[in-house]
Amino acid sequence: MIFDPFQIKNLHFKNRIIRSSIGGKMAYFDGTVSSAFKNFEKRFAENDVAGIISPTIAVDDKRASPLEYPKLTQDRFIKPIAEAIKAVHNYDCRYIIQIGEAGAHTQTSLFNQKEDSKSSSTLFDFFYGYQNRHHAMTIEEIEMAVNNYAEAARRVREAGADGVEITASKGYLIQQFLNPGVNRRTDKYGGSTDKRFQILEEIVLAVKKKVGEDFPIGIRLSAADYNYLPLNIRLPITFPLKHWYFGNTIKENLYYAQKLKALGIAYLHIDKGYGFPNPKGNPGGFPVHEIKMFNNAGRHLSFKSWARAVAFNALPEFILHPIANIGWKYVPGISADDAKIFKDATGLPVIANGGFQEMDLIEKTLQEGKADFVAMARPLLANVNLVKLFQQGLNTPEIPCTHCNRCPVRTATYPLGCYDITRFKSQDEMEEQIMEWVASSDERINQL
Ligand SMILES: Cc1cc2nc3c(=O)[nH]c(=O)nc-3n(C[C@H](O)[C@H](O)[C@H](O)COP(=O)(O)O)c2cc1C
Repeated sequence: MIFDPFQIKNLHFKNRIIRSSIGGKMAYFDGTVSSAFKNFEKRFAENDVAGIISPTIAVDDKRASPLEYPKLTQDRFIKPIAEAIKAVHNYDCRYIIQIGEAGAHTQTSLFNQKEDSKSSSTLFDFFYGYQNRHHAMTIEEIEMAVNNYAEAARRVREAGADGVEITASKGYLIQQFLNPGVNRRTDKYGGSTDKRFQILEEIVLAVKKKVGEDFPIGIRLSAADYNYLPLNIRLPITFPLKHWYFGNTIKENLYYAQKLKALGIAYLHIDKGYGFPNPKGNPGGFPVHEIKMFNNAGRHLSFKSWARAVAFNALPEFILHPIANIGWKYVPGISADDAKIFKDATGLPVIANGGFQEMDLIEKTLQEGKADFVAMARPLLANVNLVKLFQQGLNTPEIPCTHCNRCPVRTATYPLGCYDITRFKSQDEMEEQIMEWVASSDERINQL
């Protein structure tokens, strides 16, 4: 089935493999994508994936970070993205732009800025975001956020993308409203399962109004929040305790999926967990060294960042490693069973995300009707030609991705690529692979 075509609305996909969002430093400081963006995205298309979901592209001018990540907050950002899309389209590959913003999970900034603390509610969260506390958005700020999504979606269509995906996952702003352990509001945006959905409903309706009925809108939705992982100290405690400890379970998210279907979305993209990174969304190891490096890079931004860096620096790695790794392990096809529940309940096309790499597991997932597509990020970063290898009958690449999770953390400060040095013969070879991603070979030759 992997190589069977599939149709979502008017969109034709030549097979069932989607490149999942991979965000990284592919823009200039103002957020305009650089040629690295085109070169990076094009390589997956050249290597036969049926579709690419873009990195999360920021909809809010202020809450956009890390630096040098792409933005779609102004019309001037459209043209360079349109060029990248054209390059991808040369390979019969669909390009869907994922829009979103991190809310109070914004991790870095040039200076400490209040906007980076904006969320559904005021609280302390140890692990995510650099601000000492998250602060509740005013109604006016929520309305502005809704409008930001709508304007960004208009730009997505103008850039020539095949669809727009709204991220309601990854612990970003929308999930900060959906998650009852985080959303403690008592106005129309919080206080009940329905009210927590209000912002997403407004965003979907506003986006639809801008892009029109015919333009596919997908939603990346977490099957369940699992608030208790990792090191997630979130204070004050909320009641009922199950909200604080678990957040939304699959029951609430299925309800949201039904509501999204009623709003006319084209597909669901299912992952798990709350926050980026988190062990359910990125099943694999906890990259202690990388998190330490990342914390150190932002330690000047707030007392919390400083305290977090000090805590990570003070504990020797042989103590920190086992503690920080609690709950972190590789689970193949982690969201496949959940994806099936969403697919059966809604009848919508579903993409399953997380922990896929072997052809037989992908084939089984599709055969058993658990999902219509499988999306991959880290395995394609490790072996960009994975689909071609499958076409040749190989089940697993010779040097597979180890799911070490160095890439998602390291690439917030360094260029995109695989940073698992054990996969390379030497450090030079590893660095060469990273440089390949940053620029195409012709451009590199011109630069030499
Ligand atoms: C380097 C890197 C960057 C990522 N950036 C994004 C992003 O911008 N938006 C997003 O929704 N997910 C992002 N993810 C998560 C992936 O899309 C994917 O869900 C996750 O890695 C699990 O899939 P995998 O097991 O195939 O890697 C990123 C992952 C990696 C490794």
